[in-house]
Amino acid sequence: MIKKAVLPAAGLGTRFLPASKATPKEMLPIIDKPLIQYAVEEAVSIGINEIIFITSSEKYSIKKHFDKNIELESKLKKIGKEDIIQKVNPNKFFDVQFHYLNQAEQNGLGHAILEAEGLINNEPFAVLLPDDLFFSEKSCLHQLLDIYIETKSSVIAVNKIDKDNIHKYGVIKPGNDDLQKILIDDIVEKPKAEEAPSDIAVCGRYIFNPSIFEYLKKVTFDNSGEIQLTDGIKNMLESEDVFACLYDGEKFDCGSKKGFVHATISLALRDPSISEDIKQLIREII
Ligand code: UTP
Repeated sequence: MIKKAVLPAAGLGTRFLPASKATPKEMLPIIDKPLIQYAVEEAVSIGINEIIFITSSEKYSIKKHFDKNIELESKLKKIGKEDIIQKVNPNKFFDVQFHYLNQAEQNGLGHAILEAEGLINNEPFAVLLPDDLFFSEKSCLHQLLDIYIETKSSVIAVNKIDKDNIHKYGVIKPGNDDLQKILIDDIVEKPKAEEAPSDIAVCGRYIFNPSIFEYLKKVTFDNSGEIQLTDGIKNMLESEDVFACLYDGEKFDCGSKKGFVHATISLALRDPSISEDIKQLIREII
């Protein structure tokens, strides 16, 4: 049903400088896999077979990572390490088409998504922010898809955020009490804690009907010179239903140092090849 996904990855990643100077933030690894691959795998797991990366000219390593590397594959065969080939050229990506579009100026998330309009071809599509890592039995995108199938309306993932941090997020005003399928009444970008319409904040997974492009085109630059996706969704609410799904699972904001380290520790503790060693290390450090 949803065959295309847009992954905006053109941001400057200023919170990760100097690491993000030569290596895109989205390519930083959580254990042994770049952050962006977790998002691609989440998209592919619900049947998406076209991935549209929004990148900048600096970020060629993203393309290199998703291109098949035959030379490395044959070297691994030669040295008897066939078992690693699946990590380098995974079968699950064979039928996936990868596109790379350039966002010349970093004019915000809404602006980045607008770049994909030509390739979306009037179909519903997913958006995954690669610096948000989700970990759950049923993937976050799958949870959104269930609501999309039922309502045919755009759906965004949300989670509850404490008052001290709410000013960092887009925040919704719920229009009903059904937390699994919240009809959104209003949405505001980065409100002051005392002005936030709720404690329910947008997190980085969305399914949009293609009409979102028309609403995004009506958005003007904000004070920081960005076209905000939140403002596009706000425009959409004037004419269409948009639902929010309270995500059931863990989420790591890997665009921040705290979230990045949290994800690294959490995933290391789940990796059977290193978890016991890591537990021991943590005990020693404490
Ligand atoms: P962020 O705001 O978290 O990323 O955007 P950033 O701007 O790169 O990071 P900081 O704040 O400077 O540290 C969320 C996602 O949207 C992409 C980013 O690459 C990131 O994956 N993005 C953001 C774009 O593609 N274009 C933009 O103009 C802005």
